[in-house]
Amino acid sequence: MTGPPPAWVKVLPDEDYQHSFGLKAGSAETFFAPTERHADLLAQRRHWLRNDAARCAALLPGAEPLLEEAIALARQWNSLPVESELCRAHVSQRAGEMSEAPGGALATDAPHLALGEAWEPDYILLKPDAVTGRFHLVGGCVCFPSSWSFEEKVGKPLEVIHTPVPRLNDELASPIHNFLSRLKPGAAWCRANWGMSRSPELNQHPARGLRKLTPPLREDEVWLRVEDQALVALPESRGVLFGIRMTVIPLLEVKRHPTAARGLARALRTMPGAMLDYKSLLPAKDELLRLLESEHPSAVSDQP
Ligand code: HEM
Repeated sequence: MTGPPPAWVKVLPDEDYQHSFGLKAGSAETFFAPTERHADLLAQRRHWLRNDAARCAALLPGAEPLLEEAIALARQWNSLPVESELCRAHVSQRAGEMSEAPGGALATDAPHLALGEAWEPDYILLKPDAVTGRFHLVGGCVCFPSSWSFEEKVGKPLEVIHTPVPRLNDELASPIHNFLSRLKPGAAWCRANWGMSRSPELNQHPARGLRKLTPPLREDEVWLRVEDQALVALPESRGVLFGIRMTVIPLLEVKRHPTAARGLARALRTMPGAMLDYKSLLPAKDELLRLLESEHPSAVSDQP
């Protein structure tokens, strides 16, 4: 093959399926930076934030300092488009304080929506409870969810948010909590999840009633969804910024990378039934394996 394999191939190692913590240090600046998909992603985000804000955006009372810190970081990373209102607002040198615009009001009266329209990734703000220290979802903008409802998660602690994921809390609730509590400023800690869908739509909110993966299926109606995530400390407010970047890849493209196709088939074969069910893959498992393992004429080698 010419050139290195795409980054998403790494999310499908040739291993049995397991919940993995899998956090690696990365660059927050790179994660939130504009890409060549900028105009399209921002147009889609604007559409959902202006037409369905109740489902994809929230800012609870008390979350403002976290948002202000996230906006200050966005400026520091140069990740805001120049035309964004947030670019023009002034943030004081002291992190965590958004100062007033010349007219007396904040530069935008809904800065959480402005940030949701300015960044390509979705973002979530998490705040530790003053008594228990448990992290709660206190705000954010999620325009591209993978079959979960942002609005149902607002205000909830992370362990409650993760309840629908079979065995996740048993295996990882404590490590996740400990990790978030000790997050240091600077690096982003990155990991990825994957899923599958029957349409390339980025927004797979359950309320949209999009078609599910049920047999019979053709090769050209299956997509892999790779969800890159980044966790960044908000040291002044003691919160956490959680970024989610969605990439959608046609199954035909996955099949062009034999290591990825093998990893995906192995994950499907070894995934416990409850997890297949959670990911809406149970009815389609055999069909997906058949599609994945049928010959592809233009497969390329992923060996460097
Ligand atoms: C830090 C380590 C974390 C790990 C290891 C982790 C792991 C996972 C896994 C394995 C899933 C299932 C996804 C799938 O396979 O389809 C999941 C779902 C989810 N996670 Fe996390 N997660 C982490 C942090 C977070 C954070 C900080 C949030 C912020 C709120 C979050 C929110 C969610 C949500 C909303 C879902 C979907 C739940 C649903 O379907 O109802 N996760 N997570």
